[in-house]
Amino acid sequence: MSDKPQILLTPGPLTTSERTRAAMLRDWGSRDPAFINLTRRVRERIAAIAGGAETHACVLLQGSGTFGLEAAAATFIPPDGHVLIPANGAYCHRMGTIAETLGRRVTVYETPENVPPDPAELGRLLDADVTITHVAMVHCETTSGILNPLAEIAETVQKAGRSLIVDAMSSFGGIPVDVNATPVDVLIASSNKCLEGVPGIAFVVARHEILAASAGNAPSVVLDLHAQAAGFEKSGEWRFTPPTHVVAALDAALEQLDEEGGVAGRHARYRENCDVLVDGMTALGFRTYLSHNL
Ligand SMILES: Cc1ncc(COP(=O)(O)O)c(C=O)c1O
Repeated sequence: MSDKPQILLTPGPLTTSERTRAAMLRDWGSRDPAFINLTRRVRERIAAIAGGAETHACVLLQGSGTFGLEAAAATFIPPDGHVLIPANGAYCHRMGTIAETLGRRVTVYETPENVPPDPAELGRLLDADVTITHVAMVHCETTSGILNPLAEIAETVQKAGRSLIVDAMSSFGGIPVDVNATPVDVLIASSNKCLEGVPGIAFVVARHEILAASAGNAPSVVLDLHAQAAGFEKSGEWRFTPPTHVVAALDAALEQLDEEGGVAGRHARYRENCDVLVDGMTALGFRTYLSHNL
C-alpha cells in the first residue's frame, strides 16, 4: 500500500470526509449530558430530513442497516400481521426472509429486476386480500439501482388503509423523501450510505401513533424499537452501550449534509456523478441495464 490516501468505496459503499473521521477522535461518556444532547440532535436532524419532525420519531439502533429492517419488521408487523412485498431484487427478497423468519405471514408480488412494481396491480392485490395489513417495499433496490415508485405506492397503500414500511437504505439523504407528503409510516436507513457517516447505526423513522401501538409485538429484546424509543424518551440515553464515536461521526456528517444544501444539494451532486458515469461508459460502448432514472 502506498502512503497516498485511499478513496475507499466500501463500507458504504462510499468514502467519508476527513471532518467526519476526525469527529471520532474524542471519547464520550455514554451517560454524560453532552452525549445525550448529541444523540438528541442526531435523532431530531434525521426526523427533520425525512420531513417527519412533528409526526415521526427517529429511533437509533446499534448495527448495520439490516438490523434496522429486522427491528422494524419485528416491532411494527404484529404476530398476526400479513405483509405484502413488491419484489424486484435481492434486498426486497431479504425483507421477505426477515419477516418469515420472525413468523410473520408474507406474500411476494414479484416483477423482473428491471421492472418496477405496478401500483395499480399492488392496489388490486390489497383489495383481493383483506388479511394483508402491511406493505414493505425497497425505495432504491440497490442490486440494480432501480428506483421504485414510492409516491404512487404510498398513495395506493394509504387509500387501501394499510401501513407502509420503506427500506430507504440507499436513497435516504440522497433522494428527497417526505414521509408526510408521501405517506410513509416507517422508514429505515443507516448511517453509512447517502448520509455519508461511518457504519454502525441503523435508524427507523416511525409515525408516533404506530410506534405507540407497537408495544409487545417484538419477539426480541434488542430489536424492540418500542422499548428502544421508550429508553430515548425516558432518559435520552441508549438502552445498551451506544457506538459513541459513530454517533459523533454521524452528527458531523449531518452538519456537512446541511452545508451542501441538504438532500436537494446532495441529490444534485449524486445526479451529476451519475450523469458523468453513464455518459462516459456509454461513450465507451456500454449500455445501462435500466433507463436512467435517478
Ligand atoms: C436497499 C438496501 N437494503 C438493505 C441493505 C443492507 O444494509 P446493511 O448491509 O448495512 O445491513 C442495503 C445495503 O446495501 C441496501 O442497499
